[in-house]
Amino acid sequence: MDDAAIFRISDDIAIVQTVDFFPPIVDDPYKFGEIAVANALSDVYTMGGHPLTALNILCYPVDANRDVLTQILLGGYSKANEAGVLIVGGHTVDDAEPKYGLSVTGIVHPKKFVAISEAQPGDSLVLTKPIGTGVITTAAKNDLADEIVLQQAIESMLQLNQASSEVMMQVGATACTDITGFGLLGHLLNMVRASNVSAKINLPQVPILPGTLDLLNQGVAPGGTHRNLSAIESNVSWTSDISLEDRLLLCDAQTSGGLLISIPKNQLPELISKLEQAGVAEQAIIGEITEKQASAITVTL
Ligand code: CO
Ligand code: CO
Repeated sequence: MDDAAIFRISDDIAIVQTVDFFPPIVDDPYKFGEIAVANALSDVYTMGGHPLTALNILCYPVDANRDVLTQILLGGYSKANEAGVLIVGGHTVDDAEPKYGLSVTGIVHPKKFVAISEAQPGDSLVLTKPIGTGVITTAAKNDLADEIVLQQAIESMLQLNQASSEVMMQVGATACTDITGFGLLGHLLNMVRASNVSAKINLPQVPILPGTLDLLNQGVAPGGTHRNLSAIESNVSWTSDISLEDRLLLCDAQTSGGLLISIPKNQLPELISKLEQAGVAEQAIIGEITEKQASAITVTL
């Protein structure tokens, strides 16, 4: 269930490998390139690794406008550059629907990486970005999102998880995953299953992108978000006063979401203050890990 593969090369170096690519989620091709790269690098940061090199993966219609293709690649190059990652090659396939992303190689110490499977009862759960990008980008595709709401979602997706990862490694996280296609509860479920524990989430503490709840109340939610909710619902215990909209919110399929960090309580103040100092978008304490219960996840109001 880990976000990336780790392969030991020597006593002090392991390589970290991951791949991610997907169709455009925003109209601006340059921003799409940047977001795709921020998203692809995230799985290396999740493990506490340092991404070094990457290969472009691009699907693009052979007869279509090449300026758009150039903008996608320039956006991707610029975000990789910001992360200190070198794009060293790639491969392109003729495809009616464009898709872009990276295959990433990084390094990590073979004994010091952060796995998804080590969350401990008593740990606090910290989330480093607000959720809602699935709802907002779906609304934008249907011209239902305000420009400012969309811009804030794009800004959030553009943020690298690099600083959060560095802080997490300094402070000593027990487990970590990033919030992407399965939504907050889907990725949390992977963490608690892999760690053989349960979790409690305090709904009012979960950070939300501005505009998300309004759109959910108008009935906007991507198909993937509905599927995420059906897939995890039997593992979640929630009181009847938690609305369908809030349940969908917690399962909203994210792109380039934040890190979900499991951290021992005595390390929590240091983690929060260092995330703040590093300028990370959110340092929200959204719940805690417990001993294994009948329900894998309990959501409280
Ligand atoms: Co991931
Ligand atoms: Co991924």
